[in-house]
Amino acid sequence: MSENKAKFTTQLGVIAATVGSAVGLGNVWRFPAEAQANGGAAFLLVYVLCVFILGIPVMMAEFSLGRAGNSDAIGVFKNLKASRWWYAVGGTAILASYAILCFYMVVTGWTLEYLWQSISGTLYEPVTTAMPEGVGLNPQTLQFTQRMHEFIEVGMHPLINTYIVILINVAVLIIGVQKGIERLANILMPLLFLILLAFCGVAMTLPEAKEGLSYFLKPDFSAITPTVCINALGQSFFSLSLGMGILVTYASYYKSDTRLGRTALTVSLLDMLVAVMMGVIIFPAVVSFGLTGEALEGTTLVFVTLPEVFAQLPGTRFWSALFFLLLFVAALTSTISIAEVSVAFVTDRFGMSRIKSTLLVLTPLFALSSLCAKSSIVFATLDSVATNILLPLVSIGICIYVGWFAPKGMLKAEITNNGNIKGRILPVIRLIIRYVAPVLIALVMISGLIG
Ligand code: PHE
Repeated sequence: MSENKAKFTTQLGVIAATVGSAVGLGNVWRFPAEAQANGGAAFLLVYVLCVFILGIPVMMAEFSLGRAGNSDAIGVFKNLKASRWWYAVGGTAILASYAILCFYMVVTGWTLEYLWQSISGTLYEPVTTAMPEGVGLNPQTLQFTQRMHEFIEVGMHPLINTYIVILINVAVLIIGVQKGIERLANILMPLLFLILLAFCGVAMTLPEAKEGLSYFLKPDFSAITPTVCINALGQSFFSLSLGMGILVTYASYYKSDTRLGRTALTVSLLDMLVAVMMGVIIFPAVVSFGLTGEALEGTTLVFVTLPEVFAQLPGTRFWSALFFLLLFVAALTSTISIAEVSVAFVTDRFGMSRIKSTLLVLTPLFALSSLCAKSSIVFATLDSVATNILLPLVSIGICIYVGWFAPKGMLKAEITNNGNIKGRILPVIRLIIRYVAPVLIALVMISGLIG
């Protein structure tokens, strides 16, 4: 721990960088997919509950731990003189973040491919090669499905784009926290909100907007099963960047007057807003274009459904390019935050220069991400193990540490900025961190695993 450790310079920078980490493919790509696969509105309902009851308090626990410990995911425990057992929690967090990084780089690469193809217009040109089987799909959906296969599965495209993403990460990470991450996030995240808002408006004009919205917004309570709950919990934690040591690491760059409670609330609400906006865009489109079968296979939703929407608009290529540019940036700020966990760890722990540790962390990804790009089984396994098992486990560990074992008064001091602000919510947050979160997360996890 050094005196002049880098800090975010402004409060806006804190929010923008943390939102930059939270808002990413998890909201735009993973959320609609999960909602689709888990019953629409039923999933949304559990997801929102998870964010409020568990997500926000766990986020405050991570912030407190990070700022008080002022180090990386393992170093914080060391600085707070925790017993060595706790290092395992930090270690698991780093492991989870690295597993997620492997496939996240690949999907970020897809967004880059879609950006190129929107600019060149290839995405919207008719397909001349053989069409895939797709009973009952309209020709346009078939075309976009075919394009998607070309762009994300065939040949070198997915690999090259993934490598470009890794290289950009290397560059930004070497430049460092303030210049690299903060500046990028400040400019581009607000733009993403605006364009999503515009697309929500467009989605409302689609012929079957009502039916789509009611699938997404009117819950069928009987659809809530243990599997839906674990998926919603996993999604909410993934989306808020919890359980990976990211917020611990980022909070160590927060200044002492940053309000942790307010930051957690703002970040979570903005993150949820983006996810909900995506649902409002995607589901009217799904119903209006009569998507079924393969086009509905969750993970591809964004890459087939949205181009269909863009094709309806005047200025198709412009909107498409703009959207995929912003999605790419949103994804990039998230990859950078995920990689930062490991980079911060290696830098702090082995006293390496930022350049060396960045290279050490990111070079293996050329191989590991290639594996994810080429094998959907490796991809899906890493995703579900990290998201549905490791993230909840780490979150339980962090709650137990912060709630029961951390130095006395740490939570209070962090939430109230050493008594400078009132901590009216402190008792509730403490109750949740100590009892509610560990028990509830464990229950959901267990029932999801056996159910
Ligand atoms: N929260 C980001 C998203 O929703 C992804 C992410 C996951 C970022 C894990 C950091 C850590 O896309």
